[in-house]
Amino acid sequence: MQLTLRSLALTLLGSFVARSAAYTFERIDKNNSMLLIVDHQIGLFQLVRDFNPEEYRNNILAHAAMGQIFNLPTVLTSSAETGPNGPIPKEIVAMHPNAPYIKRQGEVNAWDSPEFRAAVKATGKKQVILAGIVTDVCTTFLAMSLVQEGYTVYANADASGTFNAQVAANANARMRDAGVHVISQFAVASDLMRDWRNTPGPVELLPMFDRYLTPLAFVVRAHAAAVQNGTIIPGESL
Ligand SMILES: *[C@@H]1O[C@H](CO)[C@@H](O)[C@H](O)[C@H]1NC(C)=O
Ligand SMILES: *[C@@H]1O[C@H](CO)[C@@H](O)[C@H](O)[C@H]1NC(C)=O
Repeated sequence: MQLTLRSLALTLLGSFVARSAAYTFERIDKNNSMLLIVDHQIGLFQLVRDFNPEEYRNNILAHAAMGQIFNLPTVLTSSAETGPNGPIPKEIVAMHPNAPYIKRQGEVNAWDSPEFRAAVKATGKKQVILAGIVTDVCTTFLAMSLVQEGYTVYANADASGTFNAQVAANANARMRDAGVHVISQFAVASDLMRDWRNTPGPVELLPMFDRYLTPLAFVVRAHAAAVQNGTIIPGESL
């Protein structure tokens, strides 16, 4: 009986400690992060039905641009690209002319490729920003392997696409259960930047948003137009 009460007390204490433990918000640190571009291949692009094609093209280009703007070590990988999967879009390859580009011949999970693992480890970074086609296989399998290896993983949900929204929701939930941060492209960019007065900052990022994130870009354009050429109409100064 005594033993039971003691273990009960310990259990209660344990849950109290767990609940009161402060959450640690691990932010993306541009000095300690790498970018992975996983199977963003023009053949696989056809499988993506949870975004419209124009939006999704913008999202994968924006994902690749993060590496360029923040000078993040970047690794590209593709799966069986001489078959139906096809190559990675040339715009993305052109953004990263010196990045390792691992063309896997069979491995579904990129982490199963020794060349890919070596390229990731060679970056020396501990935070990984990644996105892939399809979300439930290429992004999720790799993300979970990376968590198991001790990396902090940020899955860019805007640049990962799959067959439908249901499949994406289940894959994202699975990743979250494993401790992956499932976040948007805008969240990736904003946490990398941290402060609008930094470099890279608005000078580097606003042209990127203007190409790939129209709603934000048009807020900025509207402000510039109002400052340069605008007038206040009667009733507008509330
Ligand atoms: C990154 O490195 C620069 C230069 O050493 C430093 O100013 C900055 O605070 C570091 N961390 C982040 C998150 O920017
Ligand atoms: C303001 O007007 C000038 C002259 O028409 C034009 O060249 C410029 O692009 C305009 N600026 C904006 C932000 O609309």
